[in-house]
Amino acid sequence: MTDEKKSAAVLALDFVKDGDIVGLGTGRAANAFVRALGERVRAGLSVRGVPTSQATAELARECSIPLSALDDVASIDVTIDGADEVDPQLNLIKGYGAALVREKIVAAASRRLVILVGPEKLVDVLGQRGRIPVEVIPFGAATCTRHFAAMGLDGALREENGNKVVTDNGNYIFDCSVRAIADPAALDRQLCCVPGVVGTGIFAGMADAVLVDEESGARVLRRAA
Ligand code: 5RP
Repeated sequence: MTDEKKSAAVLALDFVKDGDIVGLGTGRAANAFVRALGERVRAGLSVRGVPTSQATAELARECSIPLSALDDVASIDVTIDGADEVDPQLNLIKGYGAALVREKIVAAASRRLVILVGPEKLVDVLGQRGRIPVEVIPFGAATCTRHFAAMGLDGALREENGNKVVTDNGNYIFDCSVRAIADPAALDRQLCCVPGVVGTGIFAGMADAVLVDEESGARVLRRAA
């Protein structure tokens, strides 16, 4: 397979070296990477994974990847994850898969964050797909909803099959309806000031590289220094 023909999940393996602690994201793109990493582990690569969700931990175990808890590692060499939107500065919206808080904690503990997406996730301005996931504590869900409305942000608590989605942390996800976000970092700070908010899906200035799956092979976008 030539470099040009590699999928993003396979190209991401180039960012991992023997002995690394690797943050494992959540979602389809991250799962493809976990499977590719598992093949390398079975072929002799020595790494430890730090999963960002119970689902990823389960898959990683099936793929023979040894795991460590975040508490048990001093730092993470590289985290590979997916995203829901990527802007030209490589700011991200994440959390359509409801793992945003653990994903952000792991990303912030990582020397490098590498994101895998299809071209449909690339946007001119964050917010184009219409929502920002925000994790809220159930006790404060109603008051958070009122605070968001006062900020001009409508939306709803996420439900599946008529039940509220509960994250691995035991919290709810409020999907704020948005359009173009002029200043993602400022909106993230503003939302995080609402009592009851645990974290938002805005990842501003965190990604070092984005690997975009194209028909001709993955394309690498790097954040400007
Ligand atoms: C989960 C996430 C995912 O990384 C994001 O939703 C992308 O998922 P997929 O690769 O399945 O499209 O942020 O919280």
